[in-house]
Amino acid sequence: MKIKFSEKALKETGALVLLAAQGPKLDSTGKHYNKATGGALDQAFKTSNFKGKRGEAVQVLAPSNIGFSRLLVFGLGPAKEVTTISAENVGAAIAAKLLRSGEKFLTVMADTPGGVKTKAGEFASHIAAGLRLRAYHFSKYLTKQPENKKARLEEAIIVTADQAAAGLYAEMDLVIDGVYMTRDLISEPANVVYPKSFATAIKSLEQDGVEVEILGEKELEKIGMGALLAVGQGSDRESYVAIMKWSGGKKGQAPVALIGKGVTFDTGGISLKPGAGMEEMKWDMGGAGIVTGAMRALALRGARANVIGIVGLVENMPSGKAQRPGDVVKSLSGQTIEVINTDAEGRLVLADILWYCQETFKPKVMIDLATLTGAIIVALGRGQYAGFFTSDEGIAKALTKAGEESGDRVWRFPLSDEYDKLINCQIADMKNVGDGANAGSITAAQFLKRFTNDVPWAHIDVAGMVWTLKPGRLWDKGATGYGVRLLDRYVKDNFEG
Ligand code: BES
Ligand code: MN
Ligand code: ZN
Repeated sequence: MKIKFSEKALKETGALVLLAAQGPKLDSTGKHYNKATGGALDQAFKTSNFKGKRGEAVQVLAPSNIGFSRLLVFGLGPAKEVTTISAENVGAAIAAKLLRSGEKFLTVMADTPGGVKTKAGEFASHIAAGLRLRAYHFSKYLTKQPENKKARLEEAIIVTADQAAAGLYAEMDLVIDGVYMTRDLISEPANVVYPKSFATAIKSLEQDGVEVEILGEKELEKIGMGALLAVGQGSDRESYVAIMKWSGGKKGQAPVALIGKGVTFDTGGISLKPGAGMEEMKWDMGGAGIVTGAMRALALRGARANVIGIVGLVENMPSGKAQRPGDVVKSLSGQTIEVINTDAEGRLVLADILWYCQETFKPKVMIDLATLTGAIIVALGRGQYAGFFTSDEGIAKALTKAGEESGDRVWRFPLSDEYDKLINCQIADMKNVGDGANAGSITAAQFLKRFTNDVPWAHIDVAGMVWTLKPGRLWDKGATGYGVRLLDRYVKDNFEG
C-alpha cells in the first residue's frame, strides 16, 4: 500500500475516514460531510450509540451526491489520553476494517482534535504506521480463494496540516520494511525457508549495506560449534550460521550484538513432539527472523551504530543420524552438555553462537531472541508481552522502555543461583533441561547465561509473540513481526549518541 501525506484531501473517491474524540466531536471535514449527507453521521452515531470511545467505529455508505463511497468515523477516546500507540491502533483498526472491503483508495483526515497532547506530525505518522503494519498479508500460496483476488487497499492519503509528518513517517516506513521481511520469513513454510535458503535471504541484505558472512558445516566443525551441530545432525539439510555486520557507528566502537534462534523446523528430534499443532514449529526460526528484519531496518534507515546480527540456522529432525537423549556434546565454550531432551534444542544452538559472538566481536551488549519455551506462553499468553531475562539493571530498564515506546512490550523474569543449580548434571558440566516440570523458561535462560562469559546480556523469549492464531493490535493472524521495532528502538535510544 502506498501512503502519502497531504495538507488537504486530494480527491473525493474511495473511503473517507474521520477521527472523533470522545463526545463524539467531529472536525470541520466531518461536520461538512454530515451536512452534505443530510445528517447521516449524526444519525449513525445515534443508532449505533457511538460516543467516540477508543476502539469504536461507525460506517455510513455514502449517498450518491458525494464522491466518496463510504464515510467511516473512528473513536479516539478522550483527547488528552491520545498517544502515539493509540494513534497506531487507530491506523491499524482502519486497515483491518477496509482491507477486504474492495476499497482501493482511502483518505484519512488525521489532524489532531483539540486537547490532544501528541504533536500533530507524530500523531499522523503513527496513524500511517499502524495502517501499513496492519495491512500486511501473506497470500502468495492462495491461488483459488476469491478474497485473494478482491481489490486490496492500494493507496492511502493521510491529511494533516503538519508538514513534519511525512519526514517522521519516512523513517518509520523503513523500519516497517524490516517488519515485513521478518513476517515473510516467518510465514514461509519449512520446505521453503530452511537453513540454506534462509542464509540466502540474509545474503540479500548486502544490497542494503550489511556485510554478510555465511558459515557452513565444515567451518562450524572447524570452529568447534559442537552443540549447534548436534541439533542439525539429524537433518538432511546442512546447518549454517549467518553473521550480519552493520557499521553505522564510529570506527572501532564496540558493537551491540543481536542473536537469534533459527530452528527452521522443530520436530523435537528423537524426543519427538506430538503431531497436533506441530506445523507451528515452522516459526521456530522466529528469533532469527526478528534479528534479520531488524538488521534490515537498521541498515535502511542508516542507524548510527555498530550492530552485529548472528543467527544459528538448523533443522531439528529425527533420523538415524540424529542425536539421542543422553548424548553428551561439547560446546564451543569447552563446556560439556548432556542432552536429556532433544526437543530442548534452541539453547544448544544459542549456546554456541553466544560464545562465538562474545569471543569474536567483544560486544558491549548481547541480546538474544528465541522461541525458546512453551512455558513462557503459559506464563504470558500470546500476543501480549515477551518474557526477558537479564542480570544487568541498565539493560532491563532500557529494554522495558524501548518496549513501552515501540509497543513491542517485554516483561522481566528472574535469574538466580538457585535456578542455575537446576541444570547441574552428574555426567557432564550441565544438562539441557531443568526438572522438566517447573520454571522451564527460567532454567532455559540460566543455561544460556553459562555461555555469555559474563558479557552484559539479555535473553528475550518470544515464543508467545512470533505467531498468533487471532488478529492482534497491529497484525492479522499469523506472523506478527514482533521484535523488530523493539530492537530498532533499543538501538536508537542506547547506541546512537
Ligand atoms: N521451540 C520450542 C518452544 C516452543 C513451544 C515455541 C511452543 C513455540 C511454541 C522449544 O524448542 C521446545 O521444544 N522447548 C521445550 C523445552 C522442554 C523440552 C524443556 C518446551 O517448551 O516444551
Ligand atoms: Mn524444541
Ligand atoms: Zn525449538
